[in-house]
Amino acid sequence: MNQAGNIRWTHFDSVESLRHKACDAIVACAQAAIEKNGRFSIVLAGGNTPRAIYRLLREAKADWSKWHVYHGDERCLPSDHVDRNSLMARQAWLQYVNVHASQVHDIPAELGNVTGAEVYSDTLKNIGTFDMVILGLGEDGHTASLFPNHVVNNSADAVPVFNSPKPPSDRVTLSQNRLCDTHHVLFLVTGVGKQEAVDHWRQGVAIPASLITAKDVVDVYSYEVVLN
Ligand code: 6PG
Repeated sequence: MNQAGNIRWTHFDSVESLRHKACDAIVACAQAAIEKNGRFSIVLAGGNTPRAIYRLLREAKADWSKWHVYHGDERCLPSDHVDRNSLMARQAWLQYVNVHASQVHDIPAELGNVTGAEVYSDTLKNIGTFDMVILGLGEDGHTASLFPNHVVNNSADAVPVFNSPKPPSDRVTLSQNRLCDTHHVLFLVTGVGKQEAVDHWRQGVAIPASLITAKDVVDVYSYEVVLN
């Protein structure tokens, strides 16, 4: 399908209900993918919003041995740095469940953005369409590390980012094309500061987040922003 038409906006009255619904949606997507194909591939979002959802996933009933975990972006910092997205996911969730270490694919952003992107592009080469991509939204409309007015090479799977307006300035991100190569996208959008970005998105203004599509559906779960 891969059209802008398959987007579903869902507003939540409490952040707890958003978190529980997101956790349930991830587990249901995994179960369906495992029943169909025997495996589930998921791309994780960084930032703060997903942390509590990852914590909920610790308690989920899932066949973790069939999960293959990737990241949508990473900050170029040492792998044990407190601001690494991979460390956040591991500490909040992955270290508590039986996903085999060989099935958790961190972006080696500690190698620098150029080498890190090359290595991760190689990792993704034969992976095919993801089952699910989780994404956040920045106040300026960015998603993963795709920032407004930053041109990145859309033909590579993973690309280096320079001069990111959100620190640190060097990052690695999956390209727009690679993020769109998925059955399901789940955006997690909380915080009043994201209102303008959401308004632009819903008005059809091109922001990095609004350019993300999926083969089946793009779900946007929101809290504290008004869906005008
Ligand atoms: C990152 C992200 C980024 C994030 C948004 C939203 O590495 O910072 O992947 O795209 O998802 O900036 O972040 P919050 O959830 O913290 O608002």
